[in-house]
Amino acid sequence: MTNDLKDVSRHFEFGENWQDYAASLDETHVKRAMTSMERLLTKEELADRSFLEIGSGSGIHTLSALRLGAKEVYATDIDPNSVKTTSSVLQNFAPDQNWKSEEKSVFDLETEGFDIVYSWGVLHHTGDMFGAIDKALDQVSPSGLVCLALYRKTALCWLWKIEKKFYTGAPEGIRKFLRGLFVAIFRAGCIAKGINFKNYVDNYQSDRGMSYYHDIHDWMGGYPYESITPEALITYVEPKGYSLVRSITRPGGIGIFGAGCDEFVFRKTS
Ligand SMILES: C[S@@+](CC[C@H](N)C(=O)[O-])C[C@H]1O[C@@H](n2cnc3c(N)ncnc32)[C@H](O)[C@@H]1O
Repeated sequence: MTNDLKDVSRHFEFGENWQDYAASLDETHVKRAMTSMERLLTKEELADRSFLEIGSGSGIHTLSALRLGAKEVYATDIDPNSVKTTSSVLQNFAPDQNWKSEEKSVFDLETEGFDIVYSWGVLHHTGDMFGAIDKALDQVSPSGLVCLALYRKTALCWLWKIEKKFYTGAPEGIRKFLRGLFVAIFRAGCIAKGINFKNYVDNYQSDRGMSYYHDIHDWMGGYPYESITPEALITYVEPKGYSLVRSITRPGGIGIFGAGCDEFVFRKTS
């Protein structure tokens, strides 16, 4: 992986997607996002803790951390539109709480020491996933927790990397066609498996508070792209003075419809 992939002008414009998504955000989405966060972090772990989110996107998870009892939250993202969206979501839903939202790359974070460092679906999009993991680990205070969600490595990751690079450089007309194609193939797959597509989309919307169609755009464009197996991540992180507290992993597969994120919580032990 060459460092020129860290050049943001070659990255997918995540922030525009978040801006669009957040325009229809309401309390139902926030509650779903809180439920999703509680699968990974308990209220006891969050209560009165300082919380750093790396790659805040829409800001809905920073907001969830506040709602679940974090005492101060710091949201960072490299994309100015994500930062704007996060700030306005926090302003609308938590105007009087202790939050800060700033435009900052994970690579520019200075070691500060947060009780909880949270980065969901971000570090594999930075152009240097292992360098970004190192920077995230640097932010954790002694005995603190780090929550990471990273794309699971599948047999077809190489193909998706090519697709994402192409999509990111393509005009909207071609992107729209590719999204339509993806949804049509996915629908056909649902029919073959006897799954009701509409129910799937409705239930999908209850996962992390995100919407299916925003996530399709995010998935198809999410470039740079890297992925990792749970074993490789644990083998990378634990020798750096962390121990795995819990994880939520997906069944492996070839990745024909893409890869999902495996989720991990590590505690800093030394
Ligand atoms: C797929 S989105 C995930 C957003 C959010 N964490 C969530 O779970 O909804 C990835 C986010 O990471 C941000 N990002 C990409 N590279 C970054 C970097 N080097 N430093 C900080 N954020 C970055 C993008 O701008 C985008 O908002």
